[in-house]
Amino acid sequence: MKILGIETSCDETAAAVVEDGVRILSNQIASQVEIHARYGGIVPEVASRQHILAIIPIVEQAMAEAKVNWSDLEGIAVTIGPGLAGSLLVGVNVAKAIALARGLPITGVNHLEGHIYANWLVNRDTALAPLFPLVCLIVSGGHSDLVLMREHGDYMVVGRTRDDAAGEAFDKAARILGLGYPGGPAVEQAAKSGTASLELPRAWLKRTNDFSFSGVKTALLRLMEGGRISSPADAAASFQEAVIDVLVTKAVAVAKEHRVKQILLAGGVASNELLRNWLVEDSPIPVLVPEPILCTDNAAMIAACGYYRFQAGKVDGLDLDVVPGLKLA
Ligand code: KG4
Ligand code: ZN
Repeated sequence: MKILGIETSCDETAAAVVEDGVRILSNQIASQVEIHARYGGIVPEVASRQHILAIIPIVEQAMAEAKVNWSDLEGIAVTIGPGLAGSLLVGVNVAKAIALARGLPITGVNHLEGHIYANWLVNRDTALAPLFPLVCLIVSGGHSDLVLMREHGDYMVVGRTRDDAAGEAFDKAARILGLGYPGGPAVEQAAKSGTASLELPRAWLKRTNDFSFSGVKTALLRLMEGGRISSPADAAASFQEAVIDVLVTKAVAVAKEHRVKQILLAGGVASNELLRNWLVEDSPIPVLVPEPILCTDNAAMIAACGYYRFQAGKVDGLDLDVVPGLKLA
């Protein structure tokens, strides 16, 4: 079953064709990062206008790369939220137009659910296909959630951030240290030439599985304002370590508590090498991590998730609408 996935929730216009929820036939991504970089962050109105310009060529490129015709497709999966309303609307309307014109079933996908399903795309041919029950650590620009999954489509959020998301914290740290935009990759890059020599606080929030990242960010800001940061590289390394230490420790604790078979990593921050390696080293439970390009926003993960939604009979009507504040479960 070949599914066309469409993703426009934030600043990437993406389309992909995925077969049977696991095999990537194409994965096209048009990033707007250079356009937003000059503003130091995403400008929603600019993002929606760029999606309008990029979406049709990106869908055509995804179809061409996959060497499929419209008649080869059996369904369309599109992100309906969470995300920027104007951005989501572009993807959803294009998906509905194709569904109507070609008589194809359509399913609306939660972007976070999509991030989790990136793990099905990559690991199917290895010994480590996802096995339930599992815990997924979703770390993106807008979310830091620990999600327990007992089966497909079944999500229980067992931990979440109480303030900043992990990716948001990386972005703010980069701004404080003057490392540029986007922050996550900039902090990771700077950290490579530094040592984690600065003492930064970790919010352990004992007896809960929740996270808090605003304290470490504020501590970094105070040090910077006080002129006590001589090496941005050391500060970046220290910040990265403080955030990842908590993410890894809590993910492993939750996995043990719920006696799961695996820990999955997902979301843009999951492309961070230190996080990937640290979790694999520290976890007594097998860890699955998608390749970096499937951690950041893409449409292959939306198509993969769509496949399992279709399998479960979750077909939407042409009244499908965007839900910018959509929650998981
Ligand atoms: O999942 P994603 O691409 O978009 C959202 O759904 O938010 O995640 C983007 C976030 C940004 O905050 C970005 O700074 C962060 O992921 N990120 C990283 C890295 N690559 C992207 N954070 C740390 N290290 C990275 N290598
Ligand atoms: Zn995302």
